[in-house]
Amino acid sequence: MKVVVLGAAGGIGQALSLLLKTQLPAGSDLALFDIAPVTPGVAVDLSHIPTAVSVKGYGQDGLVQALEGADVVLIPAGVPRKPGMDRSDLFNMNAGIIKNLVEHIADTCPKALIGIITNPVNTTVAIAAEVLKAKGVYDKNRLFGVTTLDVIRAETFVGELKGLNPAELHVPVIGGHSGTTILPLLSQVKGVEFSQEEIESLTHRIQNAGTEVVEAKAGGGSATLSMGQAAARFCFSLVKGLQGEAVTEYAYVEGDGSDAQYFAQAVRLGKNGVEEILPYGELSAFEAKAKADMLDGLKKDIQMGIDFANQ
Ligand SMILES: NC(=O)c1ccc[n+]([C@@H]2O[C@H](COP(=O)([O-])OP(=O)(O)OC[C@H]3O[C@@H](n4cnc5c(N)ncnc54)[C@H](O)[C@@H]3O)[C@@H](O)[C@H]2O)c1
Repeated sequence: MKVVVLGAAGGIGQALSLLLKTQLPAGSDLALFDIAPVTPGVAVDLSHIPTAVSVKGYGQDGLVQALEGADVVLIPAGVPRKPGMDRSDLFNMNAGIIKNLVEHIADTCPKALIGIITNPVNTTVAIAAEVLKAKGVYDKNRLFGVTTLDVIRAETFVGELKGLNPAELHVPVIGGHSGTTILPLLSQVKGVEFSQEEIESLTHRIQNAGTEVVEAKAGGGSATLSMGQAAARFCFSLVKGLQGEAVTEYAYVEGDGSDAQYFAQAVRLGKNGVEEILPYGELSAFEAKAKADMLDGLKKDIQMGIDFANQ
């Protein structure tokens, strides 16, 4: 397996690369690319960890080399939020970065599975899809917006509230990856009862968890360590799928469009990326209203990406 991280010298990139170096299957190759001059050094640093995963770093001019033969490409390249910013405020800075990187993926490793972490994910995934379509290599089963952080946050917060081990909880989170488009399905958490007040406050906390970190870091960026963990978990599932194991994860993908063209939901992963999009089942009245209320916003986010890519 060759896994490539684009934006590997950043806060998420470094945390993610550490987890990949220590936990990818033996024999894997890890390629780190970033425009920051420190990137080759990050690779040398990681290369001293004794695992059977080779790691190479590529600076400015090494993007094509980094991407050659990639099975999975994870993209946390771009600018993170500062206090007072919404994820959509990142659009102007990050849209062009994603367009450029995905053009190179299309030319160099069009069959790779692509996991987009760069915000605003609701929009950057649509940009990536349009770029791949323009290059004639789009396969909706191979492009993912990484929303795993919403799932692990939901599981953590439910565990905290109910005094349960979060590792044993399963909390579906559907929709998108910004504000009210993040929709946790608390009605589907097995064996746990919530009062209406708990549902409302937990839903609000899960939707605003990113801001909790942005404010606590006071201008120093957004979630990097928990996001590194989330992206690593997602990557290991993609890799297991490629190796023929059936695994399920939540991700923001192009489905049947019944809610929006791109929508986060459970997907069964396999050798071709998404093998099946799993139905999210019945929603409570609270969840159904929350979904209905956010769909217009999500569709606008998506349209913004389509328009940007085709302008
Ligand atoms: N999907 C999620 O759940 C989630 C969660 C947290 C953060 N994010 C997003 O992830 C992104 C990265 O966050 P971070 O905290 O790691 O930021 P960071 O500033 O620490 O790191 C970003 C890295 O990207 C690099 N970069 C910029 N332009 C590049 C390019 N054209 N090619 C390659 N590398 C480039 C920078 O040099 C930097 O090293 C942000 O957009 C942030 O909003 C997403």
